[in-house]
Amino acid sequence: MDDSTKIRNGYKQEDWARHYSEHDLTWDIAEPSPPLVRLWNDGKLKAGKVLAPGCGQGHEVVFFAERGFEVVAVDYVPAALELAGQNLKKKNLTARLLGQSFFDLDSSHDRSYDWMFEQAFFCAIDLSDRTRYVQTARRILKPGGVLVGLFYETGEEGGPPWNTTEENILESFSDGFAVECLEKSEHSTERRQGREWLAWLRKK
Ligand SMILES: C[S@@+](CC[C@H](N)C(=O)[O-])C[C@H]1O[C@@H](n2cnc3c(N)ncnc32)[C@H](O)[C@@H]1O
Repeated sequence: MDDSTKIRNGYKQEDWARHYSEHDLTWDIAEPSPPLVRLWNDGKLKAGKVLAPGCGQGHEVVFFAERGFEVVAVDYVPAALELAGQNLKKKNLTARLLGQSFFDLDSSHDRSYDWMFEQAFFCAIDLSDRTRYVQTARRILKPGGVLVGLFYETGEEGGPPWNTTEENILESFSDGFAVECLEKSEHSTERRQGREWLAWLRKK
């Protein structure tokens, strides 16, 4: 997702697949998201059922599974799930890995998650898919379930990653979610310092 690969009309599945086949995972921070780790260490998260959409190679999938969460991870690129599966296997952990689009989760997922965890997925999808994202998140979360999100404010035009501002988050989620926290995270990994919005969005 560096400048040379940015395109105006967003990515299709095959564009993401190419990143994996070329081992070009510039977004990958090689560890569980530090702000997520901080939330856990501060006792803000309780084990439950969590969905990780656009999970990539699944550092957070491993993190949640290690802590007793029931994890369902979705990515529509098979190579991403293969990497996530390998990372789980190294620690003898399991999670349900679904190779499909987040937007096509069937009705068996409806109202069944305590948590959804977002990192570098909202910024990865087309701007025109943001409404579908919010609708899907609302559909799959239990009433009172929480979307914990790290939203990426790139400050740049074009994408992916598409810029995500505080206003974008408020506009997208104010309707069906209570915005219980929205702040720039102080614990982001170095290259995202000052550019990640930590959001705690509770389904109404
Ligand atoms: C920028 S990467 C982020 C990966 C991971 N969340 C992370 O932070 O390392 C975006 C991921 O979303 C996946 N993706 C994009 N659109 C998707 C969709 N509609 N459904 C499922 N996965 C999707 C891509 O294949 C890619 O692995």
